[in-house]
Amino acid sequence: MPGTSVIGLQWGDEAKGKLVDLLAGEHQIVVRYLGGANAGHTVRVGASTYTLHHIPSGILYEGVQNIIATGVVLNPKTLLEEIRQLASRGVHCEGRLWISDRAHVVFPWHLEEDRLINEAMVVGEKLGVTLRGIGPCYRDKVGRTMAVRLGDLYRPALRERIVEIARVKSRMLSGWAGRPVELDGDRIYEEYRGYAEQLAPFVRDTNAFLLDAVEQDCRILYEGAQGALLDVDHGTFPFVTGSNSSGVGVSAGAGVPARWIHKTYGVVKAYSTRVGGGPFPTELENELGQLIRERGREYGTTTGRPRRCGWLDVVAVRYTARLSGVDVLAVMMLDVLSALDELKICVAYELDGRRLEHFPSHVDDLRRVQPVYETVPGWRCEISDVRSYEALPLEARRYLERISQWVGRPIALVSVGPERNQTIFLENGQSGHAQPASSRCTA
Ligand code: GDP
Ligand code: IMO
Ligand code: MG
Repeated sequence: MPGTSVIGLQWGDEAKGKLVDLLAGEHQIVVRYLGGANAGHTVRVGASTYTLHHIPSGILYEGVQNIIATGVVLNPKTLLEEIRQLASRGVHCEGRLWISDRAHVVFPWHLEEDRLINEAMVVGEKLGVTLRGIGPCYRDKVGRTMAVRLGDLYRPALRERIVEIARVKSRMLSGWAGRPVELDGDRIYEEYRGYAEQLAPFVRDTNAFLLDAVEQDCRILYEGAQGALLDVDHGTFPFVTGSNSSGVGVSAGAGVPARWIHKTYGVVKAYSTRVGGGPFPTELENELGQLIRERGREYGTTTGRPRRCGWLDVVAVRYTARLSGVDVLAVMMLDVLSALDELKICVAYELDGRRLEHFPSHVDDLRRVQPVYETVPGWRCEISDVRSYEALPLEARRYLERISQWVGRPIALVSVGPERNQTIFLENGQSGHAQPASSRCTA
């Protein structure tokens, strides 16, 4: 199984960082292939907590090579800060971190654009972006005329290009802001030349590197960021991020054909959370939601915002598991639910009096659905010290079995705390009883 991917199946923060850290030791290369500083992946190793925004979670293993691939939009300033912070804790990136020269670069105008649009759009629900310039940078990538890739920072015409873009962007941003916005192209050029020099030892053609690696059967782990419901095409548009964050985006972002990805882990939090705006059918805007938030410490890793919490939604997860080509599930943060008498699983929706088992394509419909819940008994004992499936309370096992059945995938592991050892590995997805997806063609 040389190619493995890890995909969040909800709205991000499913504890992908923990899973990637668990799997990284069995791989030679770990690849981040999308998003940028909007991501915050937490890895706990003993008493130490590492928060990674751009850098793959494999960096904590000495023998592992780490790639920031072409699909990432990178902010060189925050990336250098991440590299420095890791170094100050004894984790050195030199010779183990490679950044694609094709990756697009986030500039100050992207941050300003994110902020201005966020303030200017006042009608309707806000997207609630992370203000890391992600959407504007991807927009420029697709627009092409004002895009700068990492490799461009080393080319002779850079000053002219940055000065020119800054001039045009100043005019655009002034219009949006309704006041003069002056971007100093020469100053930005000097700043980015400085970053480029510091990043030079890490920059390479990662497409070539990865294509060689797959043909040599290297063991590669693809680290998803965000979650499949935030996928710009297939998620809860427009309340999504700027890239294909479901499983279908791995190949495009990494620059590796999908045939080289042999196993996909779908990461599912045992309940649901969402940061920012957008519909959330199972949201609990009450004391129960607050209890889950406090027990799960559900505050944004990147922005510190309180995360919205709710019951697990298997209509959504079944959709994203199928969309992402998931083979097995990793159910995370099961311990957080230990305080509850009973748990609800959203197994279908009701819309205009009709039962809906598919995830709606339009956000207006998703806003109107009523969740149909299956209620199961909770377990009122802490499980963070449990290390085997059999030792879990019967109710916890039943909850996992129902998840596996509804999603139609076996469970490979269950996480009961943030530490590496707070993990229960299941052989052959033994909780499974997974029903194969229907083979009937209904198209
Ligand atoms: P990611 O973006 O998907 O990597 O997830 P985040 O790092 O943003 O959020 C997950 C949080 O949950 C982090 O603080 C982890 O340390 C923590 N965590 C991971 N697994 C577990 C678990 O099984 N139980 C609990 N209570 N916390 C966990
Ligand atoms: P990780 O990798 C949770 C959300 C933002 C916002 C929407 C768009 O840690 O799981 P953006 O700044 O990307 O344009 O914001 O997407 N979002 C995330 N939510 N976890 C993330 O990353 C996220 N990255 C973006 O909150 O609603
Ligand atoms: Mg996160």
